[in-house]
Order: sequence, then C-alpha cells, then structure tokens
Amino acid sequence: MKRAQKHAIWGRRGTFILAATGSAVGLGNIWKFPYITGENGGGAFVLMYLLCICLIGLPVMVAEVLLGRRGRASPITAMQAVTRESGSSPGWNVIGLFGVLAGFLILSYYSVIAGWTLEYVTTAARGGFVGLDGESAKQAFDALLANKSALVQWQTAFLCMTVLVIVFGVTRGLETAVRVLMPLLFVLLLVLLGYAAYVGDFAAGASFLFSFKFADLSLEGLSLALGHAFFTLSLGMGAIMAYGSYMPHKSSIVKTVMMVGVLDTLVALIAGLAIFPIVFATNGVEPGDGSGLMFISLPIVFGSMPFGTIFGTLFFLLVTLAAWSSTISLLEPAVAYLTERFRFHRVSANLLIASLAWLLGLGTVMSFNDWSDSTYFLGMNLFNFIDFITASVLLPLGGALMAVYVGWFMKRRPLRRELKLESRETFSRWFTIVRYVSPVLVLVVFIMGLYGKFA
Ligand code: PHE
Ligand code: NA
Repeated sequence: MKRAQKHAIWGRRGTFILAATGSAVGLGNIWKFPYITGENGGGAFVLMYLLCICLIGLPVMVAEVLLGRRGRASPITAMQAVTRESGSSPGWNVIGLFGVLAGFLILSYYSVIAGWTLEYVTTAARGGFVGLDGESAKQAFDALLANKSALVQWQTAFLCMTVLVIVFGVTRGLETAVRVLMPLLFVLLLVLLGYAAYVGDFAAGASFLFSFKFADLSLEGLSLALGHAFFTLSLGMGAIMAYGSYMPHKSSIVKTVMMVGVLDTLVALIAGLAIFPIVFATNGVEPGDGSGLMFISLPIVFGSMPFGTIFGTLFFLLVTLAAWSSTISLLEPAVAYLTERFRFHRVSANLLIASLAWLLGLGTVMSFNDWSDSTYFLGMNLFNFIDFITASVLLPLGGALMAVYVGWFMKRRPLRRELKLESRETFSRWFTIVRYVSPVLVLVVFIMGLYGKFA
C-alpha cells in the first residue's frame, strides 16, 4: 500500500477541507441542483433539500469522515479495520463495495455532462454566446445533444484529462486547483448573480427558490431531495471516507464537516440565484426545462454581459475543473479497491475504470438523443436509471448503513476518541441524530419514495 506516500501528499492541515470541498462542489451544485429544483416546483423542494442536508447529510458526513479517519485507509480496508477493532461482523464491508459501484456508475454519466461544459468552453471562447436569446440558446443546446460524435468526443476528452492528471501523479495539483480556482469560481458565480439580478427578474427567481407552498410538497420531491443531499455532499460512497483518512487528529470533525457543508450549499444556492432570474426573464425558457437549464440560461447572460466572452470561457472552464476535482474522488474508492484487493498498479486501475466508465457513458450519450424516450430500465432511459440507482438508492443506503454502524455497532471508545474535540452537548446531539433520526428518515423516505415512484 502506498499509504506513506499518499499521506505525504495529503497530510497537511487544511488539506482535508480542500479535498472534500473539491469533491463536494461540482456539477451537482451548478448543473443538477438548479435543474431538479426547477423540475420540482422550487421553494418546497429547496426547503426539503436543506432539511435533508441538516438532519441527514451533515450528521452522516461526520460518521463517514470518522470511519475514514479511524480506519486510516481506503473505504473497504478502512471498514475492515474499524469492524475488526469493534469486533463487529465483516458483513459491514458491503458499505465499501456499494461505494465502489456507486462511484463507477456516477462517473459514467458525470464525465458526459462534464463533456458538455468542455464544449461550452470552446463555444464561449469563439464568441458563440454573443447575442443569444432564449430560442437560439435552446437550439444550440439541442444541436449539441443531437450530435453524438461531439458528445462522445468531449466525454472522451474529459476522461482522458482526468486520467492523465492522475497518472502523471499531479494529485498535488488538485490542492492548488481547489485552493485557487474554487474561490475564483465562487467569485465568478457572485458576479454572475449580480449581473443576473440586474438584467433578469431577480424577484421572480428568488421567490421561486425560497417561497414555500405547501401544495408543492411531494413524495417524489422528498426522495429526490434526500438523494441530492447525499449526491451533493459526495456522501455514502466512500469518497469522503477516503479523504477522512488523511485528516489529522488535531482537527475537529464536526467543525470541518460544517464548513464543507456550508460551502457546498452556498455554491448551489448562488448558482440557483444566478440561473432563475434569467429563466424568468427569458421568453421560451421555463424552470422545468430539465438537464439543459444551466446550459441554456447562462450563455444568454454571458451573451449580453460586458466582457461576456472572457467571463463565459472562464466560467465554463472553472466548472469543468470543479467537475474534475469531483471525478477524482469518484474514481478513488474503485481504484483503491483494485490496487489493494487485486494488486493492480494505480495507473492500470485508473485506466481500467475510466475505460469501463467511458463504455457505459456511451449509454448516457444515447440517452440524450436516440434512446431518450426509452423506458427499458424500470420505465426510465439509461441515464435517468443510473441517476436514480445512484442518488436515490445506493448513496442513501450506503449513508444509512454508515450511520447505523457508527450509531449502533461501533465501540464507544474509538468513537469517543475520534470526537474528543467536540463538546459533550455536540457529541450527544450528533449521536442521537446518527443513531435514530438519520437512519429512520432515510428508510422512511426511501420506502415512501419507491412506493410513490412505482406504485
Ligand atoms: N458531490 C459532487 C457534486 O455535487 C458529485 C459527487 C458525488 C462526487 C459522489 C463524488 C462522489 O457534483
Ligand atoms: Na456538491
């Protein structure tokens, strides 16, 4: 195992925050959050999402980081170490396997969407956004979706980029990228928000996001909100566990997790506040327009903004980088699994998983054109099915298992030791939530959600 080496790379204080933020902030915030919020009626969905983050996401994240730091290894090995220490059944190692599968499946479609952002980098740089209106922005996006060879080309480019960076061992670059480029992305989002407020219908956008109507609450919305809380925090699949293993003992897990959670939530809300004012001010663009929402609305803003070509290019580049730092963490559990269990070289493990993800990703590419109306997978097309299986099934179940393990089966002593920096009240409040509230809520929402979807 290359633990010593990896610890040399990741061992600095504050690095966990950077790595976890790099993993958390990504397409989930800027692409997915606005579009599923738009499809699910706005305010009520946002409220359910925020509740899921607070009552389930953050407490489970503390549990996941704790398991990783206690196990000091990759997810599967970490779970083995922790279950051995607490004398519990090795059956809990399924948590690690779940994670390997979920990471791989998410990667397969994540790289296709990241490919879209790459294509938009080049379009922006060519001045392709200038003078776009609702109609033409929609047409441009639809043309991209219909162009299978372009989609595959960009998907391939993004995966190659990711693997090359990993293979050439510049993981250190990740730290710099996150330290410098994430704040830049944040600032750019604020600029975008300001400009969207100025040219768009800010009041309509904000009230869509934050005004709560009881009638908009729905079971399906709730189960999507729950799934998205896990997805956006990179939770329930071992990515955060892997990074937790590099967290020094002198940092407080609860404080650190809160920081990552707040940052991630802010980025999502700001992205929403930048996108919806434009949506409401543009003829022919609707909140429920689906997965193209950001790719249709933001180019319109850049198209009319002073220096829009530069801002637009930079913005889509930074979103691609945010996707890249998430992709690395999607690969991590599977790569660690192959290297530790089957003695793969890190390079070949990365290549193998990326190639398989590429292959499966072709199905996602097809889901946006030829197969878009397919109902082959439980009534869904392949992309929607993979999204459903990962965000609505694997991540929540993985997270609930972690909560149940930590809350009920882990020995008190190692648990206390990992949280010795927290106050007594913080510990007991967290412990109650992780023991009773989070697992029960996940289970209830999960079962009701399945019922609502298929019954
Ligand atoms: N959290 C990432 C995002 O919001 C996606 C992700 C999920 C990354 C699971 C790693 C693991 O874009
Ligand atoms: Na996120």
